[in-house]
Amino acid sequence: MQKKLNKIAKDTNIFLKKFIKKQKKSELIVPMQYGLFSGGKKIRSKILVDVGSIFNLNYRTLLIIGAAVECIHAYSLIHDDLPCMDNDLIRRGKPSTHIKFGESTAVLAGNSLLTMAFEILSHKDLNVNEKTKIRLINNISESSGHLGIAGGQYLDLSYEHKKISEKKIIEMEIKKTGKLFSFCCVAPLILKNKSKKDIQKFENIGADIGLLFQVADDLIDYNGSLSAAGKKTGKDKKKGKATLISLLGDKNTIKYANKLILKINTKLKKYGPKSKNLTETLNYILNRNK
Ligand code: IPE
Ligand code: IPE
Ligand code: MG
Ligand code: MG
Ligand code: MG
Repeated sequence: MQKKLNKIAKDTNIFLKKFIKKQKKSELIVPMQYGLFSGGKKIRSKILVDVGSIFNLNYRTLLIIGAAVECIHAYSLIHDDLPCMDNDLIRRGKPSTHIKFGESTAVLAGNSLLTMAFEILSHKDLNVNEKTKIRLINNISESSGHLGIAGGQYLDLSYEHKKISEKKIIEMEIKKTGKLFSFCCVAPLILKNKSKKDIQKFENIGADIGLLFQVADDLIDYNGSLSAAGKKTGKDKKKGKATLISLLGDKNTIKYANKLILKINTKLKKYGPKSKNLTETLNYILNRNK
C-alpha cells in the first residue's frame, strides 16, 4: 500500500512540476510550490486511481485529474492554517506557508492553487472530450465552494466552543473533507459516462470515505504526535472543535469508524476483486498515524 501511494505521489509531483515549468514565472509560484510539494500523502489521488481501476481507466488521465485535486487540497491546507482559521504553525513537519512567507502571500498562493486546478482540468494535457471536462470542472467546483470545502470550513469555525449534534458534525465533516473525496470517486464514472444513479452511488461512497478520513484525522489529533503527524496534535480540544470525539468520546468514535468501513465495503462488494485496492486504502486511512 505505502509503495503504491509513494508511486502516485511521485508521479503526481512530476506532472505538477512539469505543468508549472511550462508556465510563465511569477513570485507567487514559490509559496505555491512550498504548499504543494511539502510532502502530502496524495491519498485523494490514490482513491481516484483505485476507483478508476474498477472501471479500467487510463492511469495518466486519472493522475492528471488527481493533480488538480491535490492543488485544491494544498490550497485548503494553506488557508486552514491561517491565523483567522486554525492558526497552525506547522504543516507536514515544516513551518506553515504563512509562517514562511507571510499571511497575505499565503492567502494569494492558496487562491492561485485553487484556480490552478481549473487550469489543469481545462488544459489540453488532459486527453478527454470537452463535454467531459466541463462536467469534471462543474463537479470539482461544487465540491470546493460553499457546498463543499469552503462551506464546511465555515461550519467548522462557527461550531467552535458549541454543543453540536452528531448529525450536524457529520454534515460539517462531509462538506469540509468528504465532498472532495466524492469528486475523486465520481470522476472515473464521469469519464465513463455512467448513469446518474451510478454516479449518485459513488458520490455517497466518496462522502463516507471522506468522513472516515476526517474522523481518522480527528483521532490523530486526539492521540497522535507531532513527530509522526507532521502537525501539532491535541489542538482540536483546545480550540473547542466540534468533533465526534468531543461528542461521543474516542472509544465510541473508533467504533463509529469501524462501522463506517463495514458500510463502505458492503457497498463495494458488488465490484468483486476489482475493489481490492480501494478496500486496502480504506484500512490505511483508518490505521494511519499521519
Ligand atoms: C489533512 O489532509 C486535512 C484534512 C482534510 C483532514 P491530509 O492528511 O490528506 O494532508 P496531507 O496532504 O497528507 O498533508
Ligand atoms: C481541515 O481539517 C479540513 C480541510 C478542508 C483543510 P483540519 O483542520 O482538522 O485539518 P488539519 O488537522 O489542520 O490538517
Ligand atoms: Mg480546520
Ligand atoms: Mg486545521
Ligand atoms: Mg485535524
